[in-house]
Amino acid sequence: VDDAAVAELYDATFGWDPVALPADGFWSALVLAAPSVLDVGCGTGAMLHAARAAGHAGRLVGIDPDPAMLARARTRTDIEWVAGRAVDCRWQGEFALATMVSHAFQCLITDDEVRDSLAAIGRSLVDGGRFAFETRHPGARPWEAWAAAEPSQVDLHGRTLSVSYEIDDVTGDVVTLTEVTAVGGEVLRRDQAELRFLDPAGLNGFLRDAGFEIEDQFGDWDRTPLTDASTEIITIARKTPPH
Ligand SMILES: C[S@@+](CC[C@H](N)C(=O)[O-])C[C@H]1O[C@@H](n2cnc3c(N)ncnc32)[C@H](O)[C@@H]1O
Repeated sequence: VDDAAVAELYDATFGWDPVALPADGFWSALVLAAPSVLDVGCGTGAMLHAARAAGHAGRLVGIDPDPAMLARARTRTDIEWVAGRAVDCRWQGEFALATMVSHAFQCLITDDEVRDSLAAIGRSLVDGGRFAFETRHPGARPWEAWAAAEPSQVDLHGRTLSVSYEIDDVTGDVVTLTEVTAVGGEVLRRDQAELRFLDPAGLNGFLRDAGFEIEDQFGDWDRTPLTDASTEIITIARKTPPH
């Protein structure tokens, strides 16, 4: 199972389905309504692919640091694809909307990376432009359920791969986990990653410091307001003009 197969497995597991999946429906509607979109942590590019296929006629740009994911994104050539992290966003006032979806924001671990990423995304937006993203609410402690869950089974070229998660460490709001890919009980691959679970107060502090105001914050895809019991923190932040 090489990196290309992992990227293919990602698409086979998650896909992008705005009709069946409430999260995908939420993001696709926002993207289709925006004249220009920068998707940060675009992965395999599924959201922008769907937007173009649905008739989005404006500028669409995706950026992601993972070459194998980006290789799948590049199969669509009517969208700009850039290799890089959020901090590598070098655009200046060019986008009405920036997104970081499917919890890509949680890949930003240190305070410095959160701050520098928000600053780079902010510079890429026009004044009044929006940055929209979701992060899982730490109060729900979802990693506990991931570790307890049955492995998910995904069919790839006639082989049934199982994907499960081990939780290696929880320190503060950073969870270190290992994704285990196996076939018939034989482990093919172990990928360790970190995810940060910022709480709403911490998150909003970073956003304000980076020059954003919170326009909307929801706890679910049906636009239910955010509460302590929410499992998601879905944020639409607006770049405020400099004073
Ligand atoms: C869970 S995937 C989501 C991919 C895509 N947005 C989607 O909806 O399918 C998280 C993505 O974030 C990317 N990523 C990791 N660190 C990042 C960073 N510092 N800046 C931007 N993207 C990053 C990963 O390469 C990965 O493609």
